[in-house]
Parts: sequence; C-alpha cells; structure tokens
Amino acid sequence: MPITYISAPFGGEWYAKALAVRHEVMRAPLGLCYTPEELAHDAHYQHFVACDGDQVAANVSLALLDDRWAQIKQVAVHAGYERRGIGRALIHYVEDQARAQGYSRAFLNARVPTIGFYEKIGYVCEGDTFPLVGLPHQRMTKSL
Ligand SMILES: CC(C)(COP(=O)(O)OP(=O)(O)OC[C@H]1O[C@@H](n2cnc3c(N)ncnc32)[C@H](O)[C@@H]1OP(=O)(O)O)[C@@H](O)C(=O)NCCC(=O)NCCS
Repeated sequence: MPITYISAPFGGEWYAKALAVRHEVMRAPLGLCYTPEELAHDAHYQHFVACDGDQVAANVSLALLDDRWAQIKQVAVHAGYERRGIGRALIHYVEDQARAQGYSRAFLNARVPTIGFYEKIGYVCEGDTFPLVGLPHQRMTKSL
C-alpha cells in the first residue's frame, strides 16, 4: 500500500495513533513517558503523519513561533518503516505546510546520531550541542 501524508489534528484518531508511535520510538527506549505538560503543549502544535493504510508509519509536529520560525518536532519513524525514504518525505511535507502558512525558515533540535539524516535534507548545525531528555541534541536550521 502506498504511504500517504496527512494532517493529524490534536485530539483526533490519527493524533492518538501517532502519539502511541511517538511514545514507542522516542520515549519508551529511554524509560520515559510524555509528561502532562508536554501533552498540553501538543494542543498548540500541528501534527502530520505518514500512513500505511490505517497504521501510522511516522509522525512529525510543527510549531509556528511568533518570531516567524517554524520548529519541526517529534520526528519519529516507526520500527519497520525506517530507511525507506519516509522520514525525508515527511520532512518535505511538513516544510511545505510551513511554507504555505508563510514561514520561510525552520529549525529543529536533532538527536546527535540523526544529524547526518537532517544534513541530507538541507539542515545545517548551529551552535553547540545541549542536553534534552538526557541526550545530546544539536540545533539545526534551514531556509525553506
Ligand atoms: C532518524 C529518522 C527520522 C530517519 O528517518 P528514515 O525514514 O529512516 O530516513 P530516510 O529513509 O528518509 O533517509 C533519508 C536519507 O538519510 C539517511 N539517514 C537516515 N537515518 C540516518 C541517520 N541516523 N544518520 C545518517 N543518515 C541517515 C538515509 O540513509 C537516506 O540517505 P540517502 O538519501 O543517501 O539514501 C528515523 O530513523 C527515526 O525516526 N529514528 C528514531 C527516532 C529519532 O531519532 N528521531 C529523530 C529525533 S531528532
């Protein structure tokens, strides 16, 4: 079945499925759960998923910030869907969504082992690494 890319509005069925994938990919391996504060922030973000039929193959979230930066967050490709071009396609999709809403620059905080992935799709490192959820992260930016 072809992978499709759709919006997953906060609180909806696709959002719930995507949250389960995010938990499995991003938090469970660290022995962590999303906090109530993090989940409350989700209400202010846009969420998009790559779907394989009724399954969520990958999630990305988008925060449109007051200073005209689009922040790309929660990039998570489900186990079994990695290295098939889905992460790249989903980032391109969310960049299109940001551009369509008038945003011309994007940033993200990449886990250090994924820097090479983001470099391949045009992001450049900015500044020093810093810790988030106990892991080293790197701010990366791109003109959209
Ligand atoms: C990192 C991640 C988003 C990549 O998504 P993906 O769908 O597997 O990547 P793609 O298949 O679209 O890869 C695009 C290119 O990046 C490369 N790539 C993928 N993961 C990479 C990595 N960790 N390091 C370096 N290059 C990577 C691919 O080989 C491919 O290169 P090519 O064009 O030369 O063939 C995904 O593996 C993932 O969700 N990992 C676990 C969670 C995580 O760390 N998320 C990021 C938090 S910041």
